[in-house]
Amino acid sequence: MRRKSQVTLGDKMNLIFLGAPGSGKGTVAKKVTEKFSIPQISTGDLLREELKKDSRLSWELKSYMDSGKLVPDSIIVPMLKVRLSKKDCEKGFILDGFPRTIAQAELLGKEGVKIEKAVLFDVPMKEVYDRIVNRRTCKSCGAVYNILTIPPKKEGVCDKCGGELYSREDQRPEVITKRLEVYAKETEPLIEYYREKKKLIKVDANQIPEKVLQATIEKLRE
Ligand code: AP5
Repeated sequence: MRRKSQVTLGDKMNLIFLGAPGSGKGTVAKKVTEKFSIPQISTGDLLREELKKDSRLSWELKSYMDSGKLVPDSIIVPMLKVRLSKKDCEKGFILDGFPRTIAQAELLGKEGVKIEKAVLFDVPMKEVYDRIVNRRTCKSCGAVYNILTIPPKKEGVCDKCGGELYSREDQRPEVITKRLEVYAKETEPLIEYYREKKKLIKVDANQIPEKVLQATIEKLRE
């Protein structure tokens, strides 16, 4: 039975969250997940979990991620397939960070993954840079903060679980520049791709998180 506080979007809602690094995709995805009971599948988080293992694969991944490049499809696609086959995806999911190229988008189609909406989080490039530099992430639970805009109550400590907050390796200035270049070249063409398929929703993400969340939900309900 559905709890009273749970809200539904439809029978099945497979969503893509699109946007530049630092546009706030992950922050909004975590909130939408709580509200609609569909999981957030962040390919960045899947990869960062793998990095913790200190294996040959993790060293290979590190070389791509710490330099701001995309990891090869031969690594990320099998990981994503395993995740999508889990039971919690039956009612839908939010893909946060996938697809990042037209080839990845086409692969979803070939695998029979139907996408209802692609939500674009629109933020000026100057803003995303500042957001990334000031981001802090919890080592234990993955909660995301910003020392300027969304600070934790106690410096360096996660409000939710008391875990230690850290700066990701890929938020060094030179890596941010590379990630933004990769986004412009490889990922931005997806905006047109989903617009042509009439699946694109654009959200003004240059406002406080609560408003971004509200705008996202309103647009998803339209
Ligand atoms: P990934 O982890 O996916 O990083 P990303 O897409 O670059 O996005 P970010 O996590 O940096 O930002 P976000 O948009 O989620 O913003 P956030 O909510 O954190 O990917 C990392 C790497 O993995 C890639 O570079 C690549 O190597 C690899 N990878 C991943 N997927 C891949 C794929 N499909 N193919 C190949 N390689 C892949 O917010 C940012 C900051 O802003 C935070 O501090 C937050 O608190 C703050 N903030 C959020 N919203 C607001 C707001 N409204 N106002 C003010 N501050 C805000």
